[in-house]
Amino acid sequence: MPPATTVSITHDPFDALRRKLIGLCPAAAAIGYPFLLQAFHAAVSPSGGSLSGVRIAGAAILLALAFAAPLSGLVSAVWWTAATQPSQSDLRARRLAYAAIAVPPLFVFVGVLRGYAVNLLGLPVSDIVVWIAIWLLAGAAVWSGGDQPALERTTRTTGTLRVAHGVSAVLITFYVLFHLSNHLSGLIGPETHAAIMKAGRAVYRAPLSETVLVLALLFQAASGVRLAWHWSSLRTDAYRIFQIGSGAYLAAFLLAHLNSGLIAARHVYKIETDWAWAAGMPDGLIHGAWNIRLLPHYALGVFFILAHLASGLRGVMIAHGTEVTTANRVWSAGLIGAALIATAIVCALCGMRI
Ligand code: HEM
Repeated sequence: MPPATTVSITHDPFDALRRKLIGLCPAAAAIGYPFLLQAFHAAVSPSGGSLSGVRIAGAAILLALAFAAPLSGLVSAVWWTAATQPSQSDLRARRLAYAAIAVPPLFVFVGVLRGYAVNLLGLPVSDIVVWIAIWLLAGAAVWSGGDQPALERTTRTTGTLRVAHGVSAVLITFYVLFHLSNHLSGLIGPETHAAIMKAGRAVYRAPLSETVLVLALLFQAASGVRLAWHWSSLRTDAYRIFQIGSGAYLAAFLLAHLNSGLIAARHVYKIETDWAWAAGMPDGLIHGAWNIRLLPHYALGVFFILAHLASGLRGVMIAHGTEVTTANRVWSAGLIGAALIATAIVCALCGMRI
């Protein structure tokens, strides 16, 4: 009998075609994402200046759809993980679904790279054209995947890498908790935000701590992608799928955020990375045609980092003998808290004050 990887699954060709088409849905959602943002921006920026009730309702629906695009990647990942004997094409579709969760930071990243091309190299490229090309290529990779069964991994452990990922997460968590509390203080006002950031910079901008922090974040993103690649090939439960999906988002978020803050703002364009920079002043996050992409990027960035930590905590609790139902309740509470904090920070960035 030939090895499992070379056996073709006997299948209905219409079912195979249906699965291929379903596999393309995350790429289609990703391609639609910038257009939803553009439509939202057009809806909230009427030439006359006043907003009718219909416009506000239409804008709300468009923004909800823009958020739904990356979240639909999570739903697709759950759907594809249910396949009992995934083919190579199915596994590619599953991984594409995970990649599509990271659409908001990837679109920010492409936008900043486009800025380098235009401003530094004088190349008039369009970020929308590049964006569509990337997702068409990703869709083509799924479409060209074979019907042979994907190699099912037998090992469930990635030993040392998991431990190292967890240890570096503890270090990063200190910075993230400070950083997000700093942004919450934006609800009081930019002056309070600036005062807290000035105190924090004395620690995290010191050459040694900044180097350690950035290296830890790069390691976190790289080890996270490696772990996600491993776990995405296994059949697993919805909690693990959420952990992989939130991790995929964060790897892209860190890449985009460090590129925007440390490279583009501080070194290329020499812009002060203060509250005004984060909030996209003077246009703001909502009324800036480019800045609108930062709204889902920041909102889901804050949500997923806190939710990812809650997922890690759930795993540690279960490993240490906590009842699964108790650990699940802590996880759910963590997600609700993450959503509330993300909403509060984004409202502050959009001008809300208490
Ligand atoms: C609403 C969401 C966020 C906003 C508006 C935001 C904004 C900023 C700003 C303004 C800076 C510059 C700080 C400075 O100049 O001292 C910065 C730096 C940074 N942010 Fe964020 N951030 C957000 C979320 C996150 C998250 C979730 C992480 C996760 C790790 C993160 C990681 C970092 C890092 C590593 C730096 C560089 C620190 C350094 O100067 O060495 N940020 N961010």
